[in-house]
Amino acid sequence: MEQELLQLQAEAVTKLSTLESQKDLEELRVRYLGRKGLFTGLLRQLGKVSAEDRPRLGQLANQIKEELDQKFTARKSELAGSDTGAAIIRDDLSLPGRIAPFGRLHPVTQIMDEVCSIFIDLGFAVAEGPDVELDYYNFEALNIPKHHPARDMHDTFYINDSILLRTHTSPMQIRAMEKERPPLRIIAPGKVYRCDSDITHTPMFHQVEGFLVDRKVSFADLKGILSVFCQKMFDQSDIGLRFRPSFFPFTEPSAEVDIGCVICRGEGCRVCKQTGWLEILGAGMIDPEVLKMVDYDPEEFSGFAFGLGIERIAMLKYGIDDIRLFYENDLRFLKQF
Ligand code: PHE
Repeated sequence: MEQELLQLQAEAVTKLSTLESQKDLEELRVRYLGRKGLFTGLLRQLGKVSAEDRPRLGQLANQIKEELDQKFTARKSELAGSDTGAAIIRDDLSLPGRIAPFGRLHPVTQIMDEVCSIFIDLGFAVAEGPDVELDYYNFEALNIPKHHPARDMHDTFYINDSILLRTHTSPMQIRAMEKERPPLRIIAPGKVYRCDSDITHTPMFHQVEGFLVDRKVSFADLKGILSVFCQKMFDQSDIGLRFRPSFFPFTEPSAEVDIGCVICRGEGCRVCKQTGWLEILGAGMIDPEVLKMVDYDPEEFSGFAFGLGIERIAMLKYGIDDIRLFYENDLRFLKQF
């Protein structure tokens, strides 16, 4: 028995020193020290040796087992070291490092930031309000009572009778005027929602509302601010600007504003449908009825307001003909901005 134990130890040690991989080492460990291994097999036979030899042999067996455990562990860490070495040699250290791709801002966010910073430079403050809005702010206080035909223009997502997803950023006019007295010079950027979907409409899109209220504010002030904005936004100091009479219940007079086509510069092209003009926003002088809703005296104060669609500006600026591209998250599209 003693012979067998010592022989087994010697065998294991020799094999241990010649093997080269962690996998072989593990196999060897199982073969010798595993539950059904050779060493365990010998230990089982201890019961058969005479009572007087048993303690000595038991002690010897334990000692051998301990030594072998240690040798296996030591060899294992040696091999681990050389495995890493092998891995490093397999990778070519002279290869340039891989650069993690950079993220970037979504084109809509970029345009939004650009629009806001132009108005901030013109002295406007930024105010934000809720996407889930009361009917009162979205319609009622903006001079659009229940059953008014103007509500049909909005394709509203209702949550219940009095709560909806805002269809425009104009409710921020009311929220801001309720809180403060004139002079007021505010832009309100944000998401708006309309139940509508085709190549120029998505159910969610972005607007920036702008409004200014003070004594003696005139339509000329509106034209001044909007022309500076358009020149900066489209990087064109001689950009054409056209005000067409229009109607909004919360402005009087109201206008739709066109810029000279930035693609063909007025020559006529597919984007401007050969007209040479592109509609970019709605605007007007705040209706006295709206001022009354927030307890401003229309005899004392006047103001203008405008609302512009961010996706529309992004499409014009980059010559994109399908608004849905912004929301498909196709990196080939998004990477270009
Ligand atoms: N809220 C209008 C719309 O979404 C735009 C607008 C804003 C018009 C302010 C006039 C004044 O169509």
